[in-house]
Amino acid sequence: MPLDRIRLSSLADKVVSAEEAASHIRDGMIVGMSGFTRAGEAKAVPRALAERAKREPFKITLITGASLGNDLDKQLAEAHVLSRRIPFQSDPALRKAINAGEVMFVDQHLSETVEHLRTHQLGPIDVAVIEAVAITAQGGIIPTTSVGNSATFAILAEKVIVEINLSQPLELEGLHDIYIPTRRPFREPIPVVTPESRVGLPFIPIPPEKIAAIVVTTKLDSASTVLPPDPETGAIAGHLMEFLKREVRLGRLTDRLQPLQAGIGTIANAVMHGFIDSPFYDLTMYSEVLQDSTFDLFDAGKLNFASGSSITLSKAKYDAVIPDIARYKPRLILRPQEISNHPEIIRRLGIIAINTALEFDIYGNVNSTHVGGTHMMNGIGGSGDFARNGYVSVFVTKSIAKGGALSSVVPMVSHVDHTEHDVDVLITEVGLADLRELAPRERARQIIANCVHPLYRDALTDYFDRALTRGGHTPHLIEEAFSWHARARETGSMLAAGT
Ligand code: COA
Repeated sequence: MPLDRIRLSSLADKVVSAEEAASHIRDGMIVGMSGFTRAGEAKAVPRALAERAKREPFKITLITGASLGNDLDKQLAEAHVLSRRIPFQSDPALRKAINAGEVMFVDQHLSETVEHLRTHQLGPIDVAVIEAVAITAQGGIIPTTSVGNSATFAILAEKVIVEINLSQPLELEGLHDIYIPTRRPFREPIPVVTPESRVGLPFIPIPPEKIAAIVVTTKLDSASTVLPPDPETGAIAGHLMEFLKREVRLGRLTDRLQPLQAGIGTIANAVMHGFIDSPFYDLTMYSEVLQDSTFDLFDAGKLNFASGSSITLSKAKYDAVIPDIARYKPRLILRPQEISNHPEIIRRLGIIAINTALEFDIYGNVNSTHVGGTHMMNGIGGSGDFARNGYVSVFVTKSIAKGGALSSVVPMVSHVDHTEHDVDVLITEVGLADLRELAPRERARQIIANCVHPLYRDALTDYFDRALTRGGHTPHLIEEAFSWHARARETGSMLAAGT
């Protein structure tokens, strides 16, 4: 093992196989693992756990930053290792186990998990498994491409297993800013006052004697699966740019805007590309996941600085960016997710929050997680942290899904992640509804006029008109409110017969 990877000589004899390290994890334990949106996850120990479970069944509660890459959530779900999974996932096999009721999934605002751990509402963490580029001479852990919840897991866990990943370049050192808020009720303000603020340490400080095992790995992070921009996402980006230009004309923002946050997935990534050809400049991001678009904006000279909790890239972008990370490093920070997503900081910085909906309703309530009201997709992630506390909370989605069989604008959302109170602007490729300072009846008119696909516009207008005859602050035909979802469940389409 190169000395630059384990700089505390007394830890040299802790290097063991993944199987031996995994033997510290036993039935019924609560395990905290690194990993956030398929970046920086521990790669060998979870695989060893899945293998062991095939011979000797056992179950754990697994808490991470967010989703794991390298099919690890799949392997753990298929080996039936997971009894409980917190706070986010995005894997089809795990999704299946969650929706079958086999895995109890706690879908949680990403800023909250470690607060619950610290106050013993959750936990205690028995073992933390953290991917690192190196261990410092004091025993500090230098994370890799994500920070997520790793710092608090390592600090609170009884034992820590470190996976030193030799394929993660040493140049990642210095990228991280590990700040742990002081204890409540006497907590001090978190001193992040700009996206560039460095307020912590470049490593996770723990007593080295807590490190029970070290495993050496070489597997790369898995590539993100986001698709490139298309005409619809281009149109969504265009509407967003027009909205922001208007904010500038009205004197509410300058051409430098305010720090940007973008959600996960294809649509949010594609929409961020819209800033490349915009008149805005000297931009900053204070976000959670830094996707391909962040580095495209750097390369286009539009973005000055990006703060996040993880870097999740497509294969081509990964190959271009990660070996060259030293070049980007002066303009990047990776923080614990409770800091990247902290309500205090999001409110202070006045963030422009851009997240993705699966569907929204005529009053602006947003469902980002549940297909048909019942089946978990990924989880709320950090969208709620940003939506409630930003300068403006924007939700984007295509107006239809599944080739038009589903409308993304419905009479009433079948599950609510973001209530109308947390949603300021809705955008589909059709147009944009600015809901700020509007009452529900006004919101409905804006949304129906501007966001609905032509296939569904008449039906939604008809629903709203008939609802109005019943009166109310937020008029509805309660017995019909979910009829579109019920039809989709029965026939596969929300379109009425003959439409
Ligand atoms: N009903 C049912 N399914 C729908 C739908 C709807 N109204 N709208 C979209 N979908 C389906 C798509 O068909 C697609 O399915 P597929 O994977 O089988 O092809 C899937 O949802 C993803 O949609 P896509 O259009 O590719 O969007 P995306 O990759 O941008 O993801 C979310 C969209 C909402 C799933 C994703 O952004 C998410 O999980 N968000 C919640 C968490 C979050 O916002 N985190 C960021 C905070 S920082």
